[in-house]
Amino acid sequence: MSDLLTTVPAARAFCEAARARGAAVGLVPTMGALHDGHRSLLRQSLAQNDVTVVSIFVNPLQFGAGEDLEAYPRGFENDLRICAGEGAAAVFAPSEAEMYPQPPVTSLDFGGLSASLEGACRPGHLAGVGLVVAKLFAIVGACRAYFGEKDWQQLAVVRRLADDLSLPVDVVGCPTVRQPDGVALSSRNAYLGADERAAAGVLHRCLLAGAALIEAGERASAVVEAAMASVLAAEPLLGRVDYARVVDAATLARREPLRGELRLMVAAHLGGTRLIDNLGATVPPP
Ligand code: PAF
Repeated sequence: MSDLLTTVPAARAFCEAARARGAAVGLVPTMGALHDGHRSLLRQSLAQNDVTVVSIFVNPLQFGAGEDLEAYPRGFENDLRICAGEGAAAVFAPSEAEMYPQPPVTSLDFGGLSASLEGACRPGHLAGVGLVVAKLFAIVGACRAYFGEKDWQQLAVVRRLADDLSLPVDVVGCPTVRQPDGVALSSRNAYLGADERAAAGVLHRCLLAGAALIEAGERASAVVEAAMASVLAAEPLLGRVDYARVVDAATLARREPLRGELRLMVAAHLGGTRLIDNLGATVPPP
């Protein structure tokens, strides 16, 4: 079994003892409902560190009013089994009162990195992620922390948080894990009905269509984005599209004409479920 730590002092003591033995500590921050995507983060941490700590905390600060905080999938016993089975040394699963004994007044602003995409569609979301991740970094004191590329903007924000605050942690991005039809693993896929699940592959197909155009030499973002939109429009079950865009992979800003390392980004609604996905594309230097 992994040690179950539910208080901040217990987590600190566990990690301090590990560091005192000279062990490298890896942190895998999660909101639980663990799936194979989380397993891949865990495995990478286990391969690169002596001790892996998984945090499980559904962070209310990153959910907006009317979002799925109450409904967010939870499966604590199964999560503990997965962590133990993979070999995590400890699970840090604090209560909300433990993490936020008083409502935080500190707020993080990620400037242009959070101005568009998820930052625009979910006001306060990335600030809430930043705050809880900063707290987890401070509590665990990990050498490395693992985040999925599926939440590309989150990864960009967390990298910048660590850089700007000179936090002694290496932020490691891990590739998205997909099902055979291309659907990115996400805890929110549990909300999808059978028809919706069958339709969800359209997000990945739209990213592939955009990437193929760039590969074929297209350099105008509007043309790439129109192609992405038309793939999405062909799926009758798909509801509102929040965005289908191509941006600079690091700054998340527009690049006109398209050049360098790019990221195709999509967010759309399928029934009551909001799904996001992204894919890299590179324009080689001339
Ligand atoms: O990606 C997630 O599961 C969450 O946003 C994170 C990084 C654990 C912060 O709550």
